[in-house]
Amino acid sequence: MPAPRCIADYRELARARLHPELWHYLDDGRDTPCGRANRAAFDAAPLMPRPLTDVRGGHTRVELFGEWLAHPMLLAPLAYQRLYHPDGEQASAMAANAQDGQMVISSLASQPFDAIVRAAERAPWFQLYWQGSREATHRLLDRAIAAGIRAVMFTVDAPVKQTALALPAQVGAVNLDAPARPVAIGDGQSQVFDGWMAQAPTWDDLAWLRDRTKLPLLLKGVLHPDDAMQAVQRGCDGLVVSNHGGRVLAGAPASLSLLPTIVSAVGPGVPVLLDSGIDSGSDVHRALAAGARAVLIGRPCIWGLAGNGALGVAHVIRLLRDELEQSMALCGHATLAAIAGRSG
Ligand SMILES: Cc1cc2nc3c(=O)[nH]c(=O)nc-3n(C[C@H](O)[C@H](O)[C@H](O)COP(=O)(O)O)c2cc1C
Repeated sequence: MPAPRCIADYRELARARLHPELWHYLDDGRDTPCGRANRAAFDAAPLMPRPLTDVRGGHTRVELFGEWLAHPMLLAPLAYQRLYHPDGEQASAMAANAQDGQMVISSLASQPFDAIVRAAERAPWFQLYWQGSREATHRLLDRAIAAGIRAVMFTVDAPVKQTALALPAQVGAVNLDAPARPVAIGDGQSQVFDGWMAQAPTWDDLAWLRDRTKLPLLLKGVLHPDDAMQAVQRGCDGLVVSNHGGRVLAGAPASLSLLPTIVSAVGPGVPVLLDSGIDSGSDVHRALAAGARAVLIGRPCIWGLAGNGALGVAHVIRLLRDELEQSMALCGHATLAAIAGRSG
């Protein structure tokens, strides 16, 4: 296969390299009604060409919670990255750093937090999954904070979806306690309501979590504007509008379609990020035009990781940034603020 030159090449390379079962697990969600809605929403969002605009000196820099990044494309939290390449999360961390951007480490990372932070050379963000109880969740959060993280992203949209993949012996969630014992289900009780959901977080737990750390706290997996408002009222500093890449609730709406409503509900003081279905720099441009302060990139980075380790991930981010810059130039947008219609 010739050297990859675009994001679609990396997708094909990853498909050729990965075991079909693993490819299926990674690709899951792209072809659900929700995944197709994500794609359709991006395709239906036009970008208006504005020739003759002077965009010299333009750039893609963005400030997030006091940190300046060269571009607004963060590596999404993605579980078990050693499934795709032996260098795993450390490769992603090096790539994010090489491209002067950020990554979000998953609770289900397959390498120790401190090893990933060392590879990142800057404090990354950390994605938190609820661990069944406040005590266990606190232990995990403290472990990540001790490793040196900059922000906490609490993912709440996947409390009942179980991993459909049998993990090989050498890959696992090395930063977690031993898995909690499942809640015993009594006669006539429901596995979902009395089992899994008995261990899922609630709004009160979010308020509890807010009091556990002074780091910026973002809530990931919000689609309803009322939930966005409630998260902000409970002290969240940012939101991630996401449907988990179409992987959880097959009937969920496209994240892009809810973004403008959520952005106007919470107001300009709360950074709103978006993910799910971004496959190109012009998709990034569309998300920013709809009000996202920054975006998370999930599968495309993993295609890069599977294709060529850290270099592949860095190349994917660079390709997305080149496409974003071209799209901005064609539309007369010299900065991200200009895309969003903000001054400064
Ligand atoms: C294989 C896979 C594993 C994921 N693992 C996590 C995870 O551990 N934590 C999390 O918050 N989101 C997880 N996600 C969701 C991503 O963070 C992100 O929301 C999604 O991939 C964005 O869609 P995209 O892949 O189309 O960019 C995972 C997604 C995939 C595809």
